[in-house]
Amino acid sequence: MSTTIDNLLTALKGESKACATYAAYASKALQDGYPQISKLFEATSKAERIHAGNHARALVKMGAEVPTYEFTVQVGTTLENLKSALAGENYEVEEMYPPMIATAEAEGATQALSGFKWAHEVEKTHARLYTEAIRQLESGEKLTISSKYWVCPLCGETFDSIEGVAKCHVCNVPAERFIEI
Ligand SMILES: [Fe+2]
Ligand SMILES: [Fe+2]
Repeated sequence: MSTTIDNLLTALKGESKACATYAAYASKALQDGYPQISKLFEATSKAERIHAGNHARALVKMGAEVPTYEFTVQVGTTLENLKSALAGENYEVEEMYPPMIATAEAEGATQALSGFKWAHEVEKTHARLYTEAIRQLESGEKLTISSKYWVCPLCGETFDSIEGVAKCHVCNVPAERFIEI
């Protein structure tokens, strides 16, 4: 069974790659004439950077070294990019994070546990946002998804509206501290 340190390294690498990938997808969406989807990818890229930072800090706390990574990103059409991003989020939600959460709980690795739980929640939001963008893009109708996003600076939760939102429902950070994208 892998340990929490192994899991943090795996998650750090995955989130760092997602951050770089979504940033490239954001540029491509803009080029393709989809500014709203570009904003969505910009927001999710920011969220994945926050996840990576949380995992990196948990590694330091556990006395482990934090590696740096470089990635080559494969960019397709915006629709392909959304579908590939959705597949990545679903993998993290269904397969990657649940056993990492269980192991961190068993090991009493509290800081790692928070980072895993937060990322697990936020990836569900990303999957929901991508699913709607895919639906609209495939339908050929005019996009009505948001052109503005907010990201929680602590857990990375991603909002397409903050109407009536006083604090982050994942980690309790007040809405005034959200990063506007
Ligand atoms: Fe995500
Ligand atoms: Fe949060």
